[in-house]
Amino acid sequence: MFDFRQNADAHRILDRDSATLLPVYARYPVVMDHGNGVYLFDSSGNRYLDLMGGLGVNALGHAHPRMVAAMADQAGKLVHLSPQYASRYPGELAERLCALSGLKGVFYSTGGSEAVEGALKLARTHARQSFAHPKHGIVALRNSYHGRTYGSLSVTGQEKYRLDFGPGLPHVTFVDRNNLEQLRTAVTEATAAILIEPILGEGGVNLIDDTFLAEARRLADQHNALLIFDEIQCGLGRTGDWFAYTRSGVQPDVLILGKPLGGGIPLSALLVNEKLFDAFGAGKHGSTLGGSPMACRLGLEFLHVVEDEGLLAQVVDTGAYLFDQLRKLAASSPIAVEARGRGLLLGLEITEPGRPIAEAALAQGLLLNVVQGNVLRFLPSFLLERKHVDVAIELIRKIINIVGIPEHGQASNPSKTKSYGLV
Ligand SMILES: Cc1ncc(COP(=O)(O)O)c(C=O)c1O
Repeated sequence: MFDFRQNADAHRILDRDSATLLPVYARYPVVMDHGNGVYLFDSSGNRYLDLMGGLGVNALGHAHPRMVAAMADQAGKLVHLSPQYASRYPGELAERLCALSGLKGVFYSTGGSEAVEGALKLARTHARQSFAHPKHGIVALRNSYHGRTYGSLSVTGQEKYRLDFGPGLPHVTFVDRNNLEQLRTAVTEATAAILIEPILGEGGVNLIDDTFLAEARRLADQHNALLIFDEIQCGLGRTGDWFAYTRSGVQPDVLILGKPLGGGIPLSALLVNEKLFDAFGAGKHGSTLGGSPMACRLGLEFLHVVEDEGLLAQVVDTGAYLFDQLRKLAASSPIAVEARGRGLLLGLEITEPGRPIAEAALAQGLLLNVVQGNVLRFLPSFLLERKHVDVAIELIRKIINIVGIPEHGQASNPSKTKSYGLV
């Protein structure tokens, strides 16, 4: 077990962070130094198997040699360029993304929330240009997560995130996932867009049925609304297909991508179909840092590496294996409820708070992520192999068996993190 108290330098860094960085994140008491493949190393040299994957960004793990080479080469040539000037990679990446998705055009921005903002603006301007009657409504899912900016927060179906910041965007209606009746009632001629996260990631890793996606498509067509899929978390190979919607056969009008796209350099993309290609037009939208030559070059390299290394197949194989192990764990552990998800976007719901489990795992060299308080969410690199799964499952099994004994409580002892002001 790692003893984080031994490293005075790490203490200094954590104390300085506590004093200078707004306490927005419930951080863990560790200072990371570098990464390699599926592992991260802290400033004391301890190694961690990374199943959090930078919240889904580090799909190629850490310091992938091809990404490092592309980044170094591009750094010496052109990092940023005013979006008014052309360079090689933005169009090349857009062409590739369109070929993969069947969509027609791309607008780049930096983070996921910014791309969601773009999608909402696009839906509104499209409705305004095309229809005379008021058509402002957005239908979104309860328990969804779309980001922290005002528009994206307003369509996030979790009141806890919106509560302190209201009022948000009006004309937003939430429906329960997979509830066809609620969806049919909510979508009307006043609906500009239906916004769906095909797998609710932050919401606890819950799948959306193909029938629900198909009904959303039918209703969008019937009422002249746009169908928008937010695949910031579940897209770009995470499920073993290029997109989570691929298997459903349901084609969105708008697709939002982010997280792993820029290989760790901020990059998100709004993809639209042919009829929306000109909806923004010159001067209606923008992003100074969106779609830089560096980010787009890395985006292309990311897609090439996934293809060249057969990583979609690996995601399917390792994901199925991890899912199976989690299901067995759920069947055998008194505190594990259910395993959910697809590919390498998986969740294990437990009856206890997840944080003490993640802290105990950290101290033993395993990085876990917790959402909704009691769901362990797995967003590892696509490079993960079965042998890594075996190590992780063995450790999780041990930890949840200990946490499952009520009087134990060692892992949840708050004094362990107190000196860093952590939650
Ligand atoms: C589905 C989904 N949409 C939007 C976002 C927001 O992205 P960002 O945090 O990059 O703004 C996230 C982030 O987790 C997400 O998972």
